[in-house]
Amino acid sequence: MKKSLPASNNFCPQTLFVYGTYNDDGTPDFGLFCWVSYYWGENLGVMAAICQDKRTRDNIRANGVFSMGMVTEELLPLADYFGGKSGYDEDKMNISVGIEKGHILNVPVLEKCPWTFELEVDKTFQDNGVDVYLCKIRNVLADEALCDVSVNAEDKLNTIRPVHTVGGTYFSWDGRSLGKWGELKKKLNENGN
Ligand SMILES: Cc1cc2nc3c(=O)[nH]c(=O)nc-3n(C[C@H](O)[C@H](O)[C@H](O)COP(=O)(O)O)c2cc1C
Repeated sequence: MKKSLPASNNFCPQTLFVYGTYNDDGTPDFGLFCWVSYYWGENLGVMAAICQDKRTRDNIRANGVFSMGMVTEELLPLADYFGGKSGYDEDKMNISVGIEKGHILNVPVLEKCPWTFELEVDKTFQDNGVDVYLCKIRNVLADEALCDVSVNAEDKLNTIRPVHTVGGTYFSWDGRSLGKWGELKKKLNENGN
């Protein structure tokens, strides 16, 4: 017997990504995001939604580009911090974190992220305070280990361990609860780990 419920996605796991953008003054900003999916037009594309004012959205509107790096269990404390602190707080990026540049686009990328898309916004839909971006994937930055054809996908995924979120809780690749939103950043040390 099914029950009708109010709108929610409570048991629909979402993969987490950190978006990297540059502010007007050239400093990097990172935020945490999960409203992401894919589409096929001429090529594979990414669709991403951002609601309400935030630094990431201002920067995407201004520059039309951003990086989208997969969150792994190793990166989760940092990602949780990026998701809980506004980029409008001057000290958000006063933390030690390894950052490189995209290879194709002018976007900041997390050094420790094993899989990062470099995205260029192709079309934007704005409605009710939400921006939905259809993006061209201009490049994918992958760790060498993920390019090793002698290792199967299961082993690669068990190595990088992408994080999912469901209903305000983070989940490990093998389905264990890793804690609630806002709890993981407490594990962050001065080295950004
Ligand atoms: C687990 C998690 C997922 C999030 N996903 C989104 C999202 O998909 N879209 C969105 O607009 N905000 C999302 N947020 C909120 C942003 O990460 C948050 O507003 C952050 O402070 C933005 O940083 P910024 O101001 O530097 O851009 C999420 C937050 C968390 C904790």
